[in-house]
Amino acid sequence: MTTITLPRKARSKPRRSKYTAATADRHVLYQMAVQNVEAEIDFVDETYKILRGRHALKLREDFCGTGHTSREWVGRRRTNTAIGLDIDRATLDWGLEHNIDPLPPATRSRVRLVNRDVLHPGRSGSRMDIVLAMNFSYWIFKTRETLREYFKSVRRSLVPGGIFFLDFYGGSEAYEVQREDRKVGPFTYVWDQNWLDPLTNHMRCYIHFKFKDGSRMDRAFCYEWRLWSMPEIRELLAEAGFSNSTVYLEGDDDDEGGDGDFQPVEEGEVCAAWLAYIVAER
Ligand SMILES: C[S@@+](CC[C@H](N)C(=O)[O-])C[C@H]1O[C@@H](n2cnc3c(N)ncnc32)[C@H](O)[C@@H]1O
Repeated sequence: MTTITLPRKARSKPRRSKYTAATADRHVLYQMAVQNVEAEIDFVDETYKILRGRHALKLREDFCGTGHTSREWVGRRRTNTAIGLDIDRATLDWGLEHNIDPLPPATRSRVRLVNRDVLHPGRSGSRMDIVLAMNFSYWIFKTRETLREYFKSVRRSLVPGGIFFLDFYGGSEAYEVQREDRKVGPFTYVWDQNWLDPLTNHMRCYIHFKFKDGSRMDRAFCYEWRLWSMPEIRELLAEAGFSNSTVYLEGDDDDEGGDGDFQPVEEGEVCAAWLAYIVAER
């Protein structure tokens, strides 16, 4: 009989995952699970180039959090500059330490994360080619008046020819109280549409994380916002003075999901869940 001797390494105890509720950093988990900043910047960069016939230079990332998208923008070309705005000092500090400070000095000098309310972007947030409001963050404005004020302020911050990019999700599932689990490598991301008032469309959502060792990070992030409809958003963009807005709808893959390809459409189709970008031209 042949005896197989396992190499020492294979017989030693399995290494502990750094992804447990006690050891993982919620911002790292968020960056791995939530926003695909590479795909987002691909879309923004290419769409601007198609519409304007040249590359954009100056980008402002509203609700920037950790500045992940701004970092992606300045990494693309030496001529790109970015400014990120967020009201949460602690999240900005995390982003500076982990996303911005490690950049080479020449790249680092082209990005700033600023602790400011997006309603008051200041002079350094003006004269932009592009402003981004991604991850549905602008839904924190719950009245038509405040959202219109925000859109007006964005429009004032753009140079002539400037473009405002927003993301959007819709479909019947958006109006349901439900949870959805998605495996992301070493952990599970949980999107929890926890509470919705159908009279106001105010809703509360959480992000939770679950780990292979059975531990959980509950309510790692909380969002209190209004679930807006596409026509409401486009009407408010027009009322704020944008000359037009185009909806770029994501196509379907063969497995009831999105294929990551966003194309301009004149008309949508009824679907349980859909994602789109809105491209608003100054
Ligand atoms: C959905 S998170 C976006 C996080 C970001 N995409 C990232 O990668 O970290 C929403 C962010 O909006 C910020 N925020 C909420 N209201 C704001 C306001 N009026 N002005 C600026 N930032 C705001 C929050 O502090 C939070 O960081």
